[in-house]
Order: sequence, then C-alpha cells, then structure tokens
Amino acid sequence: MKVVAGSRSRRLSRELARALDVKLVEVDAHPFPDGEKYVRLLDGVEGDDVILVQTTRPDEAIVELFLLQDAVREAGARSVITVVPYYGYGRQDKRFNEGEAISARALARRIQLDSDGFITVDIHSEHILGWFSIPSVEVSGAPAVAEYLKGLDVDVVVAPDRGSLHRAGAVAEKLGVEFDFLEKRRIDERTVEITPKDLDVEGKKVAIVDDIISTGGTVIEATRQMKAAGVAAVYAVCTHGIFAANALERMAGLVDWVASSDTIESEKTAFTVADLIAEGVSLLQEQLR
Ligand code: R5P
Repeated sequence: MKVVAGSRSRRLSRELARALDVKLVEVDAHPFPDGEKYVRLLDGVEGDDVILVQTTRPDEAIVELFLLQDAVREAGARSVITVVPYYGYGRQDKRFNEGEAISARALARRIQLDSDGFITVDIHSEHILGWFSIPSVEVSGAPAVAEYLKGLDVDVVVAPDRGSLHRAGAVAEKLGVEFDFLEKRRIDERTVEITPKDLDVEGKKVAIVDDIISTGGTVIEATRQMKAAGVAAVYAVCTHGIFAANALERMAGLVDWVASSDTIESEKTAFTVADLIAEGVSLLQEQLR
C-alpha cells in the first residue's frame, strides 16, 4: 500500500502514511504557463493499493484530484481509494431553485469514475454518500477535535446550532464535560442570527465546536453570546477550516483561540484526522475484499 499526496493535502498525507506505516508518494503538481495543471507521481505505484489524498480547496485542487486519479491508474495501481478530507460543494446538495446544479452529486459522480473506494470526513449531509456507487466511508472528526481540546482545559462544549449538537455531545463525552447548544438562524450567506439563551458559562472556558468555519459568522455570533454571558475564554474548533475572505481577521480579538484539523491545511491547522482516516481505510478494505 502507498499514500499518494495531493499537493493540497501534503501534511495530512504524511500523517496518514505514518498512521498506516506505508510509503508516501510525493507529487509534482504545478501550473503550465497557461494556468493548466501538470501532475506527475514521483515514485512508482505499479501493483500497489493506493490511497490518494486530496482536499477540494481551492477549486483547482479538484482538477488536480482528477488528474492524479488518472495518473495512478495509468501507473498500474492495483486499486485506488480516494480520500477527500474536505468534501467541497457539499452544501449545494439539492436544487434549491430551478436551474441550479446539484453540485455535491456532480462531484460524487466524477470522483467515483476513477476510484474503487471513497473516504471523507464530516460530510455536510450523509445522503451525499448515497450518490456513490463505490464503497464509501464517512469518518467523524469529533474524536480528533476532542483529543485536541484535552490540552485546552475546557469546561463546557457548545454547539452553535442544533445540527452540530451530536458533534458537541460526542466531543463533550470524550472530555467528560457538559455540553449545550444555541439556536441559529441563517439570514443570508454571510449573516446568522443566534437567539440569546441562558447558558451557565460564567467564568468558564467554552469550546464552540462546529464542522465548518467558513465566513466565521456563526462563530462570531456564538462568541458574542458567550462573552455577554461572562465566559472566561472562547475556543472555536472545527474540522474544516475554510476561513473564507477575511474570516480570520473578523474573529481575531473576539475569539480567544481558533483551530482546525488538517482536512484543509492553513495557518490554523492544529491537529490531524489521519488516525481516523486510517481506521476508515481498514474499514473500506474489508468492504473491498
Ligand atoms: C452549518 O450548517 C455549518 O455547520 C456551519 O455552522 C457553517 O457552515 C459555518 O459557516 P459560517 O462560518 O459561514 O457561519
């Protein structure tokens, strides 16, 4: 078995190769002068079971993913498991208005064309996996978030909305602390409203745990609520740190600590989901046998 490192998931690929105790294959991925992508595997994979890792951000990473799938097949790999640690376009998982694409499905259809199995982490909605006709596994990032938070001495875990309650609960259980949730209403792509709630957080260190931080709007509103309730500190920890536009600047000075996993690699990447993906690989291999 070998792990092939997409250029947008180098750190995670290294960690995954370590967790699986297999060889890492680096990739040369650079743009041609016209902006099109060139890819080349820097080691052979003939006859190997390949775990190809590439996230979906920015958009050009998706093109690279498809090219790498082709390169791996072309090089004679025995099987290919595609790991997409952050499944972009997952939020457009239905046709909200006439004429729209179902983007999450479009991606699923194309990823599986050159793959025997598929793994992702904290996907926006489970029904996306239903669009894969190859064996697929979704790994929960919650254990990695909990492991990371162990070092931060958290008193309470808070979900910024009901949708994240199960995640906050799983993290809180691992930490042995209380958890609660807020009521969020999305006004538009950048604005959310969080209903004030009487939480017992005065003088406590609170971790806001979410799957994604994108514009930061959710974390900012949740933090305002926490600060109004007199918290000692707010840590915002997520699986997928998109940090769109000026999200980090907007959170700075308000949120005491921001961290994300390595499903999207950034300056805020503070922990890895590699061991969880390694478990997913074992699970998938059993299904593929
Ligand atoms: C929503 O369903 C997600 O769990 C996140 O809360 C959301 O994607 C965060 O987005 P933003 O940072 O733009 O508020």
